[in-house]
Amino acid sequence: MNAAEQSRYLTAMGIPVWRPKAEMVLPAAFATDNEPIRTHTPQPESLHIAAMAEERVTPIPPKTIVPAVTSAPILSCAHMDWAELKQVVSTCTRCSLAKTRTKTVFGTGNLQANWMIVGEAPGADEDRQGEPFVGRAGRLLTSMLAAIGLGREQVYILNMLKCRPPNNRDPSVEEVTLCRGYLERQIELIKPKLILVVGRIAAQHLLNTEAPLARLRGQVHALPNTKTPVVVTYHPAYLLRKPIDKRKAWQDLQMAQQLASTW
Ligand code: URA
Repeated sequence: MNAAEQSRYLTAMGIPVWRPKAEMVLPAAFATDNEPIRTHTPQPESLHIAAMAEERVTPIPPKTIVPAVTSAPILSCAHMDWAELKQVVSTCTRCSLAKTRTKTVFGTGNLQANWMIVGEAPGADEDRQGEPFVGRAGRLLTSMLAAIGLGREQVYILNMLKCRPPNNRDPSVEEVTLCRGYLERQIELIKPKLILVVGRIAAQHLLNTEAPLARLRGQVHALPNTKTPVVVTYHPAYLLRKPIDKRKAWQDLQMAQQLASTW
């Protein structure tokens, strides 16, 4: 039975037939690989579209800031300026990642940025080049930012860890704790108006929580012990593997953009 016949039968039986409203148009960065951006009304029999309808992609208005507290012992870099901090990071041997890294990956971008983007840890490309988010995931991140009108030169991009964990394994709590003072000083020096954290691992460590990503998305958090707003979204490397979730990432970025529009 084709879709038109099915629709006629269902209507005759008094069963409401769901018809999608106008299709949401996603920016190219958020288009899924196996599902090109549509600008026409989709066919109602598409299960995929039904799933989209349930998952409304209107931007969520920012909610209240949720405070959190951290108790981790952190290296104090409070006295360091950019030059000293960079120097200390480049020669850091506080954890065993120093033995396996090629280059430390300090962070890059605008030192007066309103937006700070925090990732997890360098991957192979970043380890080779000494710059964050320069591989495939980095290219997607660049496109995602461009979709909300941000160039990489306008934001500051960095990772929670400055060295690559071998084989891209998850960072250990010890590594994160030993590295955290650097990140904290970078945040103090930049004084961002908004931190966008990509990925569960960075988000959980930064916000000192074990909440899953699904619960961390969709609200505005406060960086522990500060009032700096933090918005959480998917890691671009995850989105490359699971492009269907790009829609939700687009929601997150729109929410962050909405917050920025109040500055
Ligand atoms: N993934 C990250 O979290 N950071 C990078 O710099 C690259 C990939």
